[in-house]
Amino acid sequence: MLPNSIEARDAATQLHSYTNISALEKDGALVIQRGEGVYVEDVHGKRYLDGMAGLWSASLGFSEPRLARAAERQMSELSFYHTFFGRSVKVTAELSEKLVDITPEHLTRVYFANSGSEANDTAVKLIWYYHNAIGKPEKKKILSRQMGYHGVTVASASLTAIPINQIAFDLPIERIGHVSCPHHYRFAEPGESEEDFATRLAKELEDRILEEGPETVAAFFAEPVMAAGGVIVPPRTYFDKIQPVLKKYDILFVADEVVCGFGRTGELFGSATYDLTPDFMTLAKGLSASAAPISALMMSEKIHDAIRDQSNEIGVFGHGYTYSGHPLPAAVALETIKIYQEIDIVARVKERVPVFQQRLMALGDHPLVGEARGVGLIGAVEMVEDKATKAPFDPKRGIGPRANQTALEHGLILRARGDALTICPPLIISDREVHEMFDKLTIALDITASEIGA
Ligand SMILES: Cc1ncc(COP(=O)(O)O)c(C=O)c1O
Repeated sequence: MLPNSIEARDAATQLHSYTNISALEKDGALVIQRGEGVYVEDVHGKRYLDGMAGLWSASLGFSEPRLARAAERQMSELSFYHTFFGRSVKVTAELSEKLVDITPEHLTRVYFANSGSEANDTAVKLIWYYHNAIGKPEKKKILSRQMGYHGVTVASASLTAIPINQIAFDLPIERIGHVSCPHHYRFAEPGESEEDFATRLAKELEDRILEEGPETVAAFFAEPVMAAGGVIVPPRTYFDKIQPVLKKYDILFVADEVVCGFGRTGELFGSATYDLTPDFMTLAKGLSASAAPISALMMSEKIHDAIRDQSNEIGVFGHGYTYSGHPLPAAVALETIKIYQEIDIVARVKERVPVFQQRLMALGDHPLVGEARGVGLIGAVEMVEDKATKAPFDPKRGIGPRANQTALEHGLILRARGDALTICPPLIISDREVHEMFDKLTIALDITASEIGA
């Protein structure tokens, strides 16, 4: 890193997310300057295929001109207005109507926030508000899954059951608890089928609810496919068995569709892929193709009505972010959804899935790979020391980060979650680019294998 380079100045001034701060001070960040389709370019002109769509999110790639034009039009017409005190914004009103129209029919109301974390945080608040409204003030506990990711605000990081998000942050807060991660490859008993594993996890959930007292358990949060936890695809029949348990004890279901929403799993929502009927659905990332920060919390009419009645008693609904429904991201989101509809994003994803999944699953035969897993256009390869016993590498060897770095050197951006490399490209990726991505990933795995003598 050159003194006074952009990297050095950045490292000297910015605290970076999910980064080893000392390493960054020494090496500097990879500073990205421009994007073109599924590629991004750093300040030195090196090009990368971004196999992670940024943060599981830039579904239309990094340079969609229609989004730029929509933003400019909106900024020229109205750069800010808000949705407080009975005011609204025309483009935001249009976006709410559109979201109510395209999400599952029973989700009839939307609340806007700025990030996935805020949408989930708002869901937690509304779950509590709702139970006060319906005269069940003791029903407040919320359950999520180990390795689930729901964000980093105080409440959403409490739902996120990943150690680095909680250790030294004094989290989780009270009233939030966790049940097992539904990762069949890692946590099934020897010989246990996916269906039997799912039955066991549904029983574990029920036992936990009974142990806590069903009258105290308010809600359950789940991503249809767990993304940041390492792309954990639910075992067959998992949600078919979990949902009746929630219904039986009158527990609200929040589907966190921040990653799965808008086509990722091969249907418009992960809820369609897995036949979910959530009471709340949280959306962000793909909602605006990540070209502007916005999130949405969808809810059923039943929830909305109780919130209305409760707030009537108090006088006003005492919640709101300055930027809830901000016109700029709302215009970008509305244009994003128009593009999805015009290019039929779901059909487009479905066209790409066979080649993506075929290349992904073929990596299961690689000597380093214990499991290749995925659905739609999201996947992961988990590297192991011993394929037969599934024994992981000693985390101190940093095999995942090493393979990730090798991929980067070969112009491919991925993400390492432990020794799993995750893949989640922009949804507009072409077949040729899918091949390029997996060719580069294969090179990275081959080099890593030869370096460690696997
Ligand atoms: C499933 C899921 N929920 C919530 C979030 C949090 O979103 P944000 O980073 O916009 O706060 C993320 C972020 O990756 C996510 O993957």
